[in-house]
Amino acid sequence: MPYIEWSDSFSVKVKEIDDQHKKLIGMINKLHDAMLANRGREVQAEIIFEMLEYVSYHFTTEEKYMSSFAYPGYEAHKREHLEFAAEVADLKARIDRGALILSIMPLSLLRDWLQNHILGTDMKYSDLFNSKGLK
Ligand SMILES: [Fe+2]
Repeated sequence: MPYIEWSDSFSVKVKEIDDQHKKLIGMINKLHDAMLANRGREVQAEIIFEMLEYVSYHFTTEEKYMSSFAYPGYEAHKREHLEFAAEVADLKARIDRGALILSIMPLSLLRDWLQNHILGTDMKYSDLFNSKGLK
């Protein structure tokens, strides 16, 4: 069973963004699998690096739409993105220093954050994005 599983309740009703969220969920699962299987530091570092790049790409997508549709919650939303990117960067720094992800703690933070962010914060732009023709 995946560590975090996509369900329709995660859908913001915009395919491009749902697909990106699915990819992020897949990355967290991949990291979880690597941790459980005691994969080496290089494997974990590679996944984290990929995640860091993808998170930045994904946040840019959401922020681009929020900004062009003059979304009122833009600033607060962007602050949440910065916090998450900092968490992932911190995990990367730990691995760069030679540590392994041996505990479930840092991963559960990423998982819970993503879940809460999609269900609580992302969901709020769904109607506006749909009304601007994004589906
Ligand atoms: Fe977001």
